[in-house]
Amino acid sequence: PAPGWTVEADAVVIGSGIAGLTVALRHVELDPRARVLVVTKDVLSAGSTRWAQGGIAAVLDPEDTPDEHLRDTLVAGVGLCDEEAVRVLVTEGPDALKRLMSHGAEFDRDTDGELQLTREGGHHRNRIVHAGGDATGAEVQRALAEAVLAEPRIEVIEHALALDLLLDAEGRACGVTLHVMGEGARDGVGAVRAGAVVLASGGMGQVYAATTNPVVSTGDGVALALRAGAVVRDIEFVQFHPTVLWLGEGSTGQQPLVSEAVRGEGAVLIDSSGERFMRGVHELADLAPRDVVAKAIMRQMAQTGADHVYLDATHFGEDKWRSRFPTILAVCREHGIDPVTEPIPVAPAAHYASGGVRTDLYGKTSVPGLYACGEAACTGVHGANRLASNSLLEGLVYGERIAADLAAGNLTRDRATHEPVPADDRPEGLVDPRTRPRIQSHMSGGAGVLRSDRSLAQVARALSDARWTPVAVEPCTESWEATNLLTVASALVAAAAVREETRGSHWREDHPDRDDAHWRAHIDIALTAEGL
Ligand code: SIN
Repeated sequence: PAPGWTVEADAVVIGSGIAGLTVALRHVELDPRARVLVVTKDVLSAGSTRWAQGGIAAVLDPEDTPDEHLRDTLVAGVGLCDEEAVRVLVTEGPDALKRLMSHGAEFDRDTDGELQLTREGGHHRNRIVHAGGDATGAEVQRALAEAVLAEPRIEVIEHALALDLLLDAEGRACGVTLHVMGEGARDGVGAVRAGAVVLASGGMGQVYAATTNPVVSTGDGVALALRAGAVVRDIEFVQFHPTVLWLGEGSTGQQPLVSEAVRGEGAVLIDSSGERFMRGVHELADLAPRDVVAKAIMRQMAQTGADHVYLDATHFGEDKWRSRFPTILAVCREHGIDPVTEPIPVAPAAHYASGGVRTDLYGKTSVPGLYACGEAACTGVHGANRLASNSLLEGLVYGERIAADLAAGNLTRDRATHEPVPADDRPEGLVDPRTRPRIQSHMSGGAGVLRSDRSLAQVARALSDARWTPVAVEPCTESWEATNLLTVASALVAAAAVREETRGSHWREDHPDRDDAHWRAHIDIALTAEGL
């Protein structure tokens, strides 16, 4: 539908997690003239950031070095990280973290007032700062949201789902259309005209039946970018977190995370007979990189026919559980498990999209004027498997870099010469929201932790059938989300079918080995008139 209203901003940021809010705050800090609009699909704090438990990785210990953080990140990424992008991440991370603290984020400190640093899978050093024990994301989100709301040059529109990018005659992004629900004068479909558009809309965990992601993580930014012709990279690498609280067979939707930091503090994985099975699998045993641990758990489950394993941290005792992991303790107890006295049942679930909209070192995508950061982006820092606690860090560092690029003048303020040209009519209609659980179940069944040529072909067929619906579908958040899920699921399956090897979080049963000769390479996807 044609936009019923228009608003203007220098930059419009889509998404309100750590990446989006960092872009907005840093942009107004660096450019005294800047006016930024942040649009968010739900309320300001509904995205993934607030669910982050473990923390933010940064080199703060005098014994640690950026080179060591770089090395750990490259090893976890299994040959597909962009080394320059990682170097930027690890060298700029500590200062970006300090600026986050200057916005009011408080991290846990020891009795001398020094930041407490913990460890997670794949890290050879203690370098992870945390807040409230295991509620790091909630603290980060609180601090950034308060700072944004206190800044008169940043406007926020909630309940605003970004639909499509507006492009001028030269193919440069000049705004975005929105569907706003229940926000007074700006209700319904409207348009934002802006000199730059920043996608910071988070991940796509909801393409799977069981995920740690909140219900809003429906791949909206990646789907929008694909519709706009932008290149998407490494989308087949969806990370499955090894230790997600197992809530019983067939449990779907957002599942509670049990942070890797629990293993960082000494918890161990055991099978149903109490045997530790990570010893001998990797030199770091229970603290191996995430893909290694997830695979070892899947193997263990396949060998024993079990649908979960256990995480044993009973030796922590009540006091440590209460002070260090109060959120996880409370959630486990809510579900009838007492981690102080019994091992926690856990199984892998979808957690993080390591790929996304391809960017350069300043967050620029292949479409001029369109930027991406955070989980929606593929900056090159994660490769085939993200290192634990590098995601909040990436949101900070690359969010700041986008702001610096905008402040350096790469922002078109002259809107008259950048009129949007009318887009072609959408070739397909919106997807029936009732399709969502079908997409999730097919994706978990054939394109999840384990994949093969056969299973991926079956999923591709099912997704193609799901596109057709006999009834006209109302434009609403649910139908847009189902449409976006179908778009990103189809792209993910197409890339996963092409990558005939096993690497990082992409595990092909029919190609069980890593194949550096052919596949130490990225898969870029773009949507053209002919399809993906
Ligand atoms: C966790 O706390 O285990 C999650 C950390 C992450 O995803 O980086």
